[in-house]
Amino acid sequence: MASDRRMRLMSLRICLLVYVHTSFPSWALAPYQGPKPPWNYKGYNSFPAFYFGANESGLENSSWLPFVAQHQVAGWGWQQNFHSVGQDRWHYSQQEVSLAQMASRMATYMEVTPASPQKRLQALFVYRHLEVAEWYFTTSATAFHDPGNRDMFLHDKNGHICWDNFDNTGPYWNFSSPRVTEWFLNEVAAEIVREANVQAVFFDETDYLYCGGTAGNCSADVHTGAEGLAQYRAKLQLLRSLALKLNAANVWPIYSSYNGYSDLPWRDCVMPFDEYYTALQDVGWIRFYEYGIGATSPSPAWDSQATLAQALRESELGLPVMIRAQPHGAGATLPLGLFLLAQNDFWYLGISTGWLDENWQWWSEYEKLYGHPLGPAELKSDGWHRSFQRCQVFVSKDLSTAKITLTDGVFII
Ligand SMILES: *[C@@H]1O[C@H](CO)[C@@H](O)[C@H](O)[C@H]1NC(C)=O
Ligand SMILES: *[C@@H]1O[C@H](CO)[C@@H](O)[C@H](O)[C@H]1NC(C)=O
Ligand SMILES: *[C@@H]1O[C@H](CO)[C@@H](O)[C@H](O)[C@H]1NC(C)=O
Ligand SMILES: *[C@@H]1O[C@H](CO)[C@@H](O)[C@H](O)[C@H]1NC(C)=O
Repeated sequence: MASDRRMRLMSLRICLLVYVHTSFPSWALAPYQGPKPPWNYKGYNSFPAFYFGANESGLENSSWLPFVAQHQVAGWGWQQNFHSVGQDRWHYSQQEVSLAQMASRMATYMEVTPASPQKRLQALFVYRHLEVAEWYFTTSATAFHDPGNRDMFLHDKNGHICWDNFDNTGPYWNFSSPRVTEWFLNEVAAEIVREANVQAVFFDETDYLYCGGTAGNCSADVHTGAEGLAQYRAKLQLLRSLALKLNAANVWPIYSSYNGYSDLPWRDCVMPFDEYYTALQDVGWIRFYEYGIGATSPSPAWDSQATLAQALRESELGLPVMIRAQPHGAGATLPLGLFLLAQNDFWYLGISTGWLDENWQWWSEYEKLYGHPLGPAELKSDGWHRSFQRCQVFVSKDLSTAKITLTDGVFII
């Protein structure tokens, strides 16, 4: 009897311990409370694939549009029409117009062609850079062509402006300059909200410089240490103001970041993602991963994948996320399996070998129906498991293989 009671007390205590542990996690970040994007999430009824290509020679032709329309979200990168707009850096090249034209062409296709189950597109996005004032965007070029704006860009100790010498696309903004925030709100965001047919904007490299990147022809001291910290902090306030301004016009920013939570480091950033997340915890935005979420440990490589643990944390907090991943070998199953472990509302996946049209394909896995997740992913002795209404997802412990078992008996390996 006594031992029985002790057993009951013990199991009660274990329950309490488990309860305390799950309700007061050590990382203690508030759940994401931003508004939902202005479209309904349909990613449990058909696969939430996104498209992020570009045609360097011009508008995508009429046979390409049905392919793009299969995705729930689609947009175009800086390479769009680049052979025309990217000719001469001293001229004003209106990349904004190229991207807006492509979005309008796609929106028109959606409107004038008959509805079909293959037409799943709900949101279109355009591209902007958020680190380099790229010379083929008019709103950035007008900033740096004006010598009176030199203080808006990073410079070395001799006053020489730092240029991106990776592809020579422009000088680096100095986000510690309050005039840069004004420029982004009054010029960049104001221009975007005037565009028709755009529901989202992809902002490239919100923190590449502050997470181990290089500032072109300048040395690291311009964007590391206290200098980098001040710029990154100022930039987070800009991301917040930008989101508020765009949200008011029903446009959702997609922020590409290389940062991880303090206990889940990914790259060597000047400060952890906790501050980034907290600054944006109550505004509408989508976090973007450029190189997938398959890593088990941090890596400083510029194209390193984020850790799965980081994505699982964001899923638990309820943050919307878009993941662009490389195929594994020739297959989509591993990036798909990793995505399914973390999928939550407003999570999207794009699997491609690059950023041009020909690098994207419609994977057969996108045609399968996985349904709603029945709980979070669980780590067992052999690896990660997650149950869905219509499948079981398994990813090995070292994240190198995945198996998705559809409950109707069809296997994808
Ligand atoms: C890309 O643009 C060129 C020039 O307009 C066109 O000939 C080609 O068909 C386009 N490619 C795709 C995939 O739309
Ligand atoms: C569209 O572009 C693709 C890729 O270049 C090409 O295969 C296809 O024939 C083009 N279609 C039209 C209608 O031009
Ligand atoms: C960035 O701007 C701040 C504020 O104007 C200035 O103090 C700082 O020197 C600038 N940093 C660089 C690297 O240009
Ligand atoms: C970097 O390159 C740009 C463009 O070529 C040049 O104007 C600038 O002075 C250079 N900056 C440094 C720090 O060398």
